[in-house]
Order: sequence, then C-alpha cells, then structure tokens
Amino acid sequence: MSGVAPSRLVVHPGRGLNGTVTPPGDKSITHRAYLFGGLAEGETRVEGGNHGADCESTLACLEALGVGVEREGGAVRIRGGAMRFVRPPHPLDCGNSGTTLRLLAGPLAGQSFASSLAGDASLNRRPVDRVIEPLRIMGATLRARDGDRLPPLEIQGGPLRPIDYAVKSNSAQVASCVLLAGLFAPGTTTVRIGPARDHTERLLPRFGIEVENRGVADAGVRARSVRGPAVLRAATVEVPGDFSAAAFFLAGAAATPGASVTAHGVTLNPTRTGLLDVLRRMGATVTTRDLRDPEGEPVGQVTVQGPERLVATDIPAAALPTLVDEVPAWAMAAALAHGDSRIEGAGELRVKETDRLAALATQLQALGIAIDESRDGLVIHGGRVMGGEVEADGDHRIAMAFAVLATRAAGPVTIRGAREIATSFPGFVAALRGLGAHAEEHGEGALAR
Ligand code: S3P
Repeated sequence: MSGVAPSRLVVHPGRGLNGTVTPPGDKSITHRAYLFGGLAEGETRVEGGNHGADCESTLACLEALGVGVEREGGAVRIRGGAMRFVRPPHPLDCGNSGTTLRLLAGPLAGQSFASSLAGDASLNRRPVDRVIEPLRIMGATLRARDGDRLPPLEIQGGPLRPIDYAVKSNSAQVASCVLLAGLFAPGTTTVRIGPARDHTERLLPRFGIEVENRGVADAGVRARSVRGPAVLRAATVEVPGDFSAAAFFLAGAAATPGASVTAHGVTLNPTRTGLLDVLRRMGATVTTRDLRDPEGEPVGQVTVQGPERLVATDIPAAALPTLVDEVPAWAMAAALAHGDSRIEGAGELRVKETDRLAALATQLQALGIAIDESRDGLVIHGGRVMGGEVEADGDHRIAMAFAVLATRAAGPVTIRGAREIATSFPGFVAALRGLGAHAEEHGEGALAR
C-alpha cells in the first residue's frame, strides 16, 4: 500500500452518531478461516469474510503457496494443500498485516522448503522475534533483519518437535503461530496465554482438530494443547461481524449525550469485548441481544447509548488483552469524558501498525486535549475537542478513531494518512455517513467505500 499519496478524510462536527451499523466480517476470524482452509484437505468455503486489504494479503500469500482460491460473490472457496504448501516463487508479501505474517510463520516452519515473509514499511518495523523464539525451540531455522528482530523473516522449514510455551506479551498471534506449528510436530504442543483472543482455539475444532483445554491458572492464564501430526479437514465457515470495527461507532455513541448506535451480527466473544465493560463504567448504557453461537463464536447485537455525563475511567494492565485493538476508540471517549482517564501496561501498543500511544498523545494534543504520555501508558485529561488536522500515520484504527471523534469536535477535522482504513474496514466512510456524519474524502487513492 506504500507509494500512494495518502488520502485525507475531512469530518465535520454534527449531532453525533445515531442508528444501526453492520460491520464487515471479523478480521481475526477471516485470517484464520482462510489459513486453516489453505492447510486443510478438501474445499473450504468462507462466507461473510472481511474483504479489507489485510485478509486479502493472507489470501494472496496462500495462492503463492499453491492454494486454490476462488471468489464467488462475497464468499471465498479455498482448495487446501493438506498441510503441504508448494515453495513460493517469490518472498511472501504480507502487506500491512501482522496477523498474516505471524500466523503463517507457524505452518511455514513445518514445510520442507525455505520461505521469506515481509510487508510494507509499517509491517517491516514490527517485531518478529516473538515468533522466532518458539519456532527455534521447535527446531526450525529462522533469521530476520536487525538482529533477528524485524522482517523480512526467513524461515527454513523442517521437522519440528512439540513445545510447552508460555506466550509473552499476551500475543494471540504468537499463540496461534505455535499451535499451528504444533500440528506438524509429533506429540503434544501446549501454549499458555492470558485473556487474549481465542479464535484459533475455537475455530480449529471446526476443521477437525481437537484442542485440549488444560485449564486456567492464576491471572487468567489458559493452557491449550494440540496433538500432531495432524491434517485439518475442510469446513464451511460463516464469519461474524467485526466487533473491533463496530467499536469506533459504539465509543462515539457513548461520548454523545442521548445518542444510540446498534451494531448487528458482531462477535461478542468475551476475549474481544472488554471495551463494553469500560464504556459501562464510564456511564454508557450497553445492551446485548440475540446471542447465538453458530461457529463456536458468540454472535449478537449490541447497543450503546450515551449518558448525559460520560465520566473518565482507567484501564488496568490486566484488562488490556480484551481491548487491545479498541484503545484508540476508548481514547476518543476518554477525550470527551469528564475527568482524567488512564491506561497502564500498554507498551504493546507501541508496536502496532504505528506507535499508537505516541500517535494518540500527539494527535489528541493537536486537537486541544491535554495528555501525559509515559513509557507504557497515557493519562487523558478530558475536555473540549477543537477542529484541526491530525496525522493517522497510515494506521487504520487511529484514522477511524479520529473520524468518529471529529463528529464531536468544535470544528472540522482533517485526517491525513487515512488510506489504510481499507485494510480492515473498506465500507467505513459509508457506515459513518449512514450514522449521520458529514464526511468528505480527498486525495489520491480514494478510500474504498
Ligand atoms: C490479532 C491479535 C492482536 C491484535 C491484532 C489481531 C489476531 O495482536 O492486536 O489486531 O488476529 O490474532 P497480538 O496478538 O500481537 O496482541
């Protein structure tokens, strides 16, 4: 996505957001459905998947690895390689997508050839040592740039041994990488991880893989095991809507007295919905309805209504894994709340698509909000948000958060570097307008609608 002049989005202040939204398919579940389909024996069908650029990167990598991919309307049919990929003709381009790179590293470590994974300028600044460590213990040979820290990640696959691994930084991507590598290793591979998203563990059984639950220890650390060697069986997957996409609008409703936004058909997996508890603590009314569990993933409808007075609240480090992608959305609500809001133990946000702690601090200050930034946290002093210009720095979630905040600003807000919104939410601008916002797009490479 690099090399194209960034699009600008101008959002005018208004009465806040009201109405209903159906977000795109969940990005995390789509990546996994595509990848598991690529590994499976037989033909997998993925319905309602996320069509943003990140999941398209996963599909393109799979095609380069010999997997058959066919699109049929909104659905994708995948003819998997029964755990065997073919040697790719070129380095694999993961675009802006950390999930593509880190998840794919696991199965590539079990192949009998060498491969290389890299991405755009943003992804090539994000750490890969977190997957190198466990995969080396399992027996693969890996190398990366800058002292084995950054992409490109070179993987020489081969026979793997099982591992019992405590995942650092609560990274669901690392846990998934290790479990997938474990399917190539003879014996039991176990990951131990805090309350991070568990879509891999929920989806693998649908592809015929048993995931053993070894219990939950102190501090919510869960242990999950797979037994290898194993071959996934093709499946049909219906992807629920993305809570993380809906989150911007839900936080926007919370920050507007009397506003109400309902998101339909979203995943309400408790490892993802920590933001709802935080918005409740801030005084918003949160209701969930129509809960179903069609794919082992709780799905339903969620409504957030804004209180007369939104109050500041803190996010403790222990809660972070359940709202790791929602911090930009929360920060917008915190900027409009009464009082000082804090987040701590959030150093992981510095290695997302951009350094999100720095981006939030700098850009909220540009709109008149006072912020204290520390090594791993922020204090946001709620107040009056002015109009102005902000730089999203190619980070989709920073851009979407400021677009929603702008509906409550004192003047128009121009968001530069907003083009990457299309990595996760191609219909974002239409959805924003559908909830009553006045938004204009400018510049080359218009945002996908
Ligand atoms: C993801 C896990 C999270 C999240 C990312 C998607 C996933 O990253 O921030 O957007 O699909 O597994 P980490 O696992 O690095 O915390």
